[in-house]
Amino acid sequence: MDKSISTSSIRSCAATSSRPCVLDAGCGYGRNLVHLLREGCQVFALDANAEGVEHVRRLSASLGTGLPDENFKVGPIERMPFGDCVADVVICNSVLHFARDDEHFRAMIGELWRVLAPGGMLFCRLGSRIGMDFQPVRGHIFVVGDGSEWFLVDEEMLLDLTDELDAILVDPLKTTIVQDYRCMTTWVLRKRHPDA
Ligand SMILES: C[S@@+](CC[C@H](N)C(=O)[O-])C[C@H]1O[C@@H](n2cnc3c(N)ncnc32)[C@H](O)[C@@H]1O
Repeated sequence: MDKSISTSSIRSCAATSSRPCVLDAGCGYGRNLVHLLREGCQVFALDANAEGVEHVRRLSASLGTGLPDENFKVGPIERMPFGDCVADVVICNSVLHFARDDEHFRAMIGELWRVLAPGGMLFCRLGSRIGMDFQPVRGHIFVVGDGSEWFLVDEEMLLDLTDELDAILVDPLKTTIVQDYRCMTTWVLRKRHPDA
């Protein structure tokens, strides 16, 4: 996970809660959750891969968190079985490049935003075209360095989406370029309180 998604930034974001609620959308095998589970965060996680989710359940149990199995769900990000505004922090790391098209991408973003509480933060690390050129396939799908097809965003798209969500861009966009392969951009947003 990007180093900026640290426990301290999560705690500062969820300063009003002694036990911040963190939701990892597309958690995989939970590599970004180990320290959060150890730190006593209330973790929710979801992935389309049942094996990954089972692994995260066992990880949580082995750390003695006491979190119920129902916090860890198999399912699609575009239809998450979690309530509105449940999370102080939503993480989505290296997942959104799986979007099939614009509609799928927007459905996933809509859900990440729906489950985020006002004042909370969304941390996305996602494939982008910021800093490298890729062979276009269709729409926002491009061929990356290993020959696979990824949904890639660009700077304008992320800034437009930030405006559309009426979100606060917490940090300037930061991109890591992996030579001849891919670019990963970190996009961190805060959700405004309705009365702010
Ligand atoms: C590259 S892995 C990243 C896993 C984890 N976030 C990490 O940083 O280690 C991508 C994960 O996204 C999941 N995924 C892809 N599309 C998804 C979707 N629409 N809904 C839920 N999970 C999805 C895959 O099953 C896979 O576990």
